[in-house]
Amino acid sequence: MAPTGCMSSTSGPDPLTLSWMATPVEIRRPPGTGSCGGQCDLYRATSGPRSIGRLHTMRLDRWWLHPLMAALFLGGISAYAAWAALQTKYYATGSYISPLYSPCIASSCGTHATIALIGGWWRWSPALLVVAAPVGVRATCYYYRKLYYRSFWLSPPACAVVDPHQTYSGESRFPLVLQNAHRYFWMLSILVAIMLTADSVLAFRQPGGIGLGLGTALLTCNAVAFWAYVLSCHAFRHLVGGGLRGFSGNRRRHRVWRVASALNRRHGLFALVSLPFVVITDGYVRLVASGSIADPHLVFMH
Ligand code: FES
Repeated sequence: MAPTGCMSSTSGPDPLTLSWMATPVEIRRPPGTGSCGGQCDLYRATSGPRSIGRLHTMRLDRWWLHPLMAALFLGGISAYAAWAALQTKYYATGSYISPLYSPCIASSCGTHATIALIGGWWRWSPALLVVAAPVGVRATCYYYRKLYYRSFWLSPPACAVVDPHQTYSGESRFPLVLQNAHRYFWMLSILVAIMLTADSVLAFRQPGGIGLGLGTALLTCNAVAFWAYVLSCHAFRHLVGGGLRGFSGNRRRHRVWRVASALNRRHGLFALVSLPFVVITDGYVRLVASGSIADPHLVFMH
């Protein structure tokens, strides 16, 4: 599939491929020699592909580690987020609100409602009304696609490991054609980023005045991480730099494009960092709201 990160055989050599190919070439036992000098496993590996189930490769390294870690990372966070989004309590306390529930647009949010657009007939979790944008932007993100195509669909599981699927229809048919909606989810996620910023500013309201609590710091870090994630998006870089023949006469766009390009080089990092922050922030708000822990805070202005 497209966003795998592997270079095709027609686009030139992959440095990673060369690095693992170099090892068996160097250690290959000359025909007819006896002892394998303690490297029998490597010799065996050079004599044919190694297989895990339907996955075949000549690679000698632990190539399966990365997709396995990615599956545990994404699976664990998705399971927690699904559980947390289905809860109808402990998602807000004082001036803190979980990022999974923001903006809170159901009247059932009570005093934590950002704007009560949905009346009392909505009996389910308020998070279900607002998770589409953040989930949609991550599910269709190029970086996450690379991760979950490899780790869950094994398509392919890693560079130079045979893709076990017999056919490939690309992203031109349902349901994968929906990946093309990424830019629209990205636009919605800008609204989410604005709401998270507003939440982090409001979180400076502490009992007794204006101050800083551990929850304030977490909400602020979460908002910053999400901004870094959405502003490093490929769609944003294209939005500010695409559709032009050149930047002469568009100095302002050029400046924004350079910033977007610099951020874009770290998009994978921002994607990885911003996701756990959602879980950490939600978990913290949940613990404070349930009375399990107290929020340490300082008050600067009464
Ligand atoms: Fe990852 Fe757009 S490519 S958010």
